[in-house]
Amino acid sequence: MSKWWQEAIGYQIYPRSFKDTNHDGLGDINGIREKLSYLKELGVDFIWITPIYESPNVDNGYDISDYCAISADFGTMAEFQCLVQEAHDLDIKIIMDLVINHTSNQHYWFQESRKGGDNDYRDFYIWHPPVDGKEPNDWHAIFGGSVWEYDDLRGEYYFHAFAKEQPDLNWDSPAMRQKIFEMIEWWIEQGIDGFRIDAISHIKKDDWHRPFDFADVNGNYKNIEGIDVYLKELSALLKKHQVMSVGEANGVKAEEATAWVGEHGYFDMIFEFEHIDLWRTRNDEGIDLLSFKNALIRWQEALADGRGWNALYMENHDVPRSISAFGNDSLAYRTLSGKALAMTFMLLQGTPFIYQGQEIGMINNQFESIAQIDAVDSINLYESLIETGATIEEAMQVISGTTRDNARTPMQWDASTFAGFSEKEPWLAINENKNWLNVVEEQRNSASIYHFYKQLIALRKENPTFINGKFHYIELNSAHLFCYERKDDQACFTIVVNLGGTEQTCDYLSALQNQEIILANYEEDVTDCLRPYEARLYRK
Ligand code: GLC
Ligand code: CA
Repeated sequence: MSKWWQEAIGYQIYPRSFKDTNHDGLGDINGIREKLSYLKELGVDFIWITPIYESPNVDNGYDISDYCAISADFGTMAEFQCLVQEAHDLDIKIIMDLVINHTSNQHYWFQESRKGGDNDYRDFYIWHPPVDGKEPNDWHAIFGGSVWEYDDLRGEYYFHAFAKEQPDLNWDSPAMRQKIFEMIEWWIEQGIDGFRIDAISHIKKDDWHRPFDFADVNGNYKNIEGIDVYLKELSALLKKHQVMSVGEANGVKAEEATAWVGEHGYFDMIFEFEHIDLWRTRNDEGIDLLSFKNALIRWQEALADGRGWNALYMENHDVPRSISAFGNDSLAYRTLSGKALAMTFMLLQGTPFIYQGQEIGMINNQFESIAQIDAVDSINLYESLIETGATIEEAMQVISGTTRDNARTPMQWDASTFAGFSEKEPWLAINENKNWLNVVEEQRNSASIYHFYKQLIALRKENPTFINGKFHYIELNSAHLFCYERKDDQACFTIVVNLGGTEQTCDYLSALQNQEIILANYEEDVTDCLRPYEARLYRK
């Protein structure tokens, strides 16, 4: 018997950019409520909502100052309760973001911990006295600078994997773990259905003496040996309450996947990072299609035959838009390449997560000046590029192509001044393409990316083969072509996609000649080659 989340379609909402109902330029909880019917119509079964808790917003809600309070930016607890109710009435489940690697430095626990002495929160964070008057080691933080920040009050350094305003929690403290577990149970009591667990592979740090790994900026505090001890305790709690869990697991390799999501794994699913390039800070290299494809295959094979379950995704709030990053966002190719990527990932084995705007093929924005950027990591990177001699134009070129703000520009509902997102200037620029790239247009045009997603979702729902069927990779000896089958005793489907922008001859198509094409992104069929970004689904 499959679990509900194995048959489900997930949709990630970044609330700040989804829909603003009180016109303060920030999306809100009532905006999500207003769009539930849109999501239902698309075929969504659960939504993952990124943090809406009390936060000073250094990292847009991923710096939490009160876990059990809703930030006034988004609304009230009463509105949240209505959202849960209304979503459940539509059979849409709610997954909350659980940020437990760190808190905000404004959190009460941290404010107390700073005081040192023998207070209850003393060991809730990772403190270290200065070594030779300096930081305890040379490790770099993911968002730039040292992982160590000196605190005047306590006279010690504290550790932060991300921004300095995001001190890491100390998972060696039983009292800290206890508080976190109580908080988790409190949220479960609010009627939610599961958690996406933020940055969870970072909760264990390596020996402070290990030299910094320059090849892998967070290698010293990512999936470190011994992490299983913490994870097992967390996992037992989640399993006890039977809530769905999907961990963000940077640094976990396909070979270790079963420990994380196998029969006795810590979570139901994880977001692996091998097929995307998270925290990418260069845009001079094109995408390596072969590595991208191989990573997808590795994860499919690692979790085959009931060994575990994949979380499938191409986008989230931390990476540039997939059509711009992996495909082609020009006018001529946006729709074709958006559909090719959609077919590539939506029919793999696992549970698909669609990121808001992906279903209408939103693309990267052109950010002209650093004043338009909000993401803390991009601002830090900009400053260090300028410091090391880059011109403003050079720095902005890197930032514009790599910043995660590309994924955070407001959702484009229609062509009105603020794209139907708000009636007021939003917190982050709206992409100028909203005049032609928006939900209204995509719904009106039956050949759009939006309708293609709807078709893919419907196919998954109508054919259990896409849920439980085997994944079988077919090697076509081309870096650009990706071909796989999904099959069981009911049916056999073949997916063949040209991920590249040049025509590729393909002999294998003749073997498929007698099969029916049930979905494709080109109208007329040719038999000896795949055109740029061509994607076809065959049924035997
Ligand atoms: C995760 C989140 C990201 C956040 C970081 C720190 O990677 O997805 O948005 O900045 O953790 O919490
Ligand atoms: Ca608002």
